[in-house]
Amino acid sequence: PVVKEIFGLSELEERIREAFGLRKVVIVPGDSEASPLTKKELGRAGAKALLGVMRSEDVVAVTGGTTIAEVAEQLSPPTGLSLKQSWFVPARGGLGESLEIQANTIASGMAKRVGAGYRLLHVPDLLGKEAYESLVGDPNIQDIVEMIRKARIVVHGIGDAMEMARRRKLEESMVQELQNEGALAESFGYYFNEDGVVVHKMLTLGLRLEDIRRTETVIGIAGGRSKAKAILAVLLFGQEDILVTDEAAAEDIVKEL
Ligand code: F6P
Repeated sequence: PVVKEIFGLSELEERIREAFGLRKVVIVPGDSEASPLTKKELGRAGAKALLGVMRSEDVVAVTGGTTIAEVAEQLSPPTGLSLKQSWFVPARGGLGESLEIQANTIASGMAKRVGAGYRLLHVPDLLGKEAYESLVGDPNIQDIVEMIRKARIVVHGIGDAMEMARRRKLEESMVQELQNEGALAESFGYYFNEDGVVVHKMLTLGLRLEDIRRTETVIGIAGGRSKAKAILAVLLFGQEDILVTDEAAAEDIVKEL
């Protein structure tokens, strides 16, 4: 019966919330990996969580990926709150994603949906050291990077490290290195081991770990049974405030508690 299921999910939410000292946990029923409809629901719940914490003059930094793209799809202008003075920005420079799921695309899409402004960060992924250093010095880039680092809200996806290495078409030697370092999860360009320790970072511009630590509201949105360990690793990293996930991932997360 539906009532029992709902009760079960809110119990799951509370267990995860307590275990990691989160402000809020939202779990949608099902497995978003297995069902596109559940993925939509995950996006809808993510959109609701985001609008629930937004103020009229905000800066929101967003990452790429299919889940956050779904959040963008599900956003609509909030009632009783104008976001005309708010900004959406990408959290990091290009991280090797295809155009539709790049952070820049998502930031502009979200802004348009809710009537906010956006600024983009046009830097390539996989920056070499030299390119990185010359870009860091560019005044226009400095300007937008400064804005990103001051974001009050960060909305981010979480991925399995090896899956993300593949999706970003990293070189075999790099994949090997990540494996040796025990990389299990990936989020905002950082790779984490099973204890939530950062074992690797991608050289790209934007939000840094110290910025994430300072961010008032960090919203992680990720689901699917195969992501449970990755989500757990990012929870152990300990900077999350709000988690939006699905039943399949949540079930496997609590098994580890
Ligand atoms: O590359 C952006 C990113 O948010 C990663 O940090 C994360 O690991 C991944 O996308 C999640 O992607 P998806 O929502 O498609 O699983």
